[in-house]
Amino acid sequence: METRHFLTLNSLSRDELLSIINRAEVLKKQFIEKSYESTLESRVLGMIFEKSSTRTRVSFEAGMAQLGGHAIYLAPTGTQIGRGEPLEDTARVLSKMVDCIMLRTFEHERIERFAEYSDVPVINGLSDSYHPCQLLADLLTHYEKRGSIEGKKVVWFGDGNNMCHSYMNAAKILDFQLIVSGPEGFDPDPKILEGTKTNVVIERNPKQAAKNADVIVTDVWASMGQEEEQKERMQKFAQYQVNTDLMECANGDALFMHCLPAHRGEEVSENVLEGPQSVVWEEAGNRLHSQKALLEFLIG
Ligand code: CP
Ligand code: NVA
Repeated sequence: METRHFLTLNSLSRDELLSIINRAEVLKKQFIEKSYESTLESRVLGMIFEKSSTRTRVSFEAGMAQLGGHAIYLAPTGTQIGRGEPLEDTARVLSKMVDCIMLRTFEHERIERFAEYSDVPVINGLSDSYHPCQLLADLLTHYEKRGSIEGKKVVWFGDGNNMCHSYMNAAKILDFQLIVSGPEGFDPDPKILEGTKTNVVIERNPKQAAKNADVIVTDVWASMGQEEEQKERMQKFAQYQVNTDLMECANGDALFMHCLPAHRGEEVSENVLEGPQSVVWEEAGNRLHSQKALLEFLIG
């Protein structure tokens, strides 16, 4: 049987994606009741982080423990990865020892290459191009709060980055409308846009974009690896800050989402992030439940 990987949301069919979200709801209930099932007993997840993380690391590590398994954290410092051992070699070695590998890295091509050489499922824990694990949590949050996302209007503000690309994939798979609103020069990858154009449009005018939105979502203006562009981006993105003026253009019950970490006063104002429409804390917590469901799907 061919090894299943989770490199982008497109690694799953619509039905598989919905069944992972359903299972995540069950696992969340069990977590609240502290009635765990050891569905991944003796299973081991290797986690390679070439970029920083709080949520992704803790949710995978805690998730494996709660399912009766174990997770190993590997960073470039202290491992041979940081001393130049090729990815292809690391993939082949680790897949002889663990049941699944999560990789957070820079170029998406690194994850594809890693998966090619791995005999066990590989999970994309964020690349420069995609962040599919975060979408599992965002979708779960929407299903819990508002039910199906099909036919809804979701507005993405800011950079056409990894999170935006994963939202574009989700829009296509689950058939919702995605408006991307950011400055010229920071649009999503045209190839990803081409593949999702039935569900995605670009609207430069932020107030126009926010009209009748069911969900407003944003992310930092400079992602990990783009720190030196921070100052320039602050000026170029200024009019796309999600603040109360922009939220007022959306539907009255619109949800505000952000993958976190957030930069208050930059891509989002303090009062929106901490306001009644913000679901960011539950969204972050849902990383745990949705990834446990993903792990069960891939290695259970
Ligand atoms: N949202 C997210 O992936 O957070 P971390 O970078 O803390 O893992
Ligand atoms: N776009 C951000 C997401 C962080 C979770 C980044 O890549 O840094």
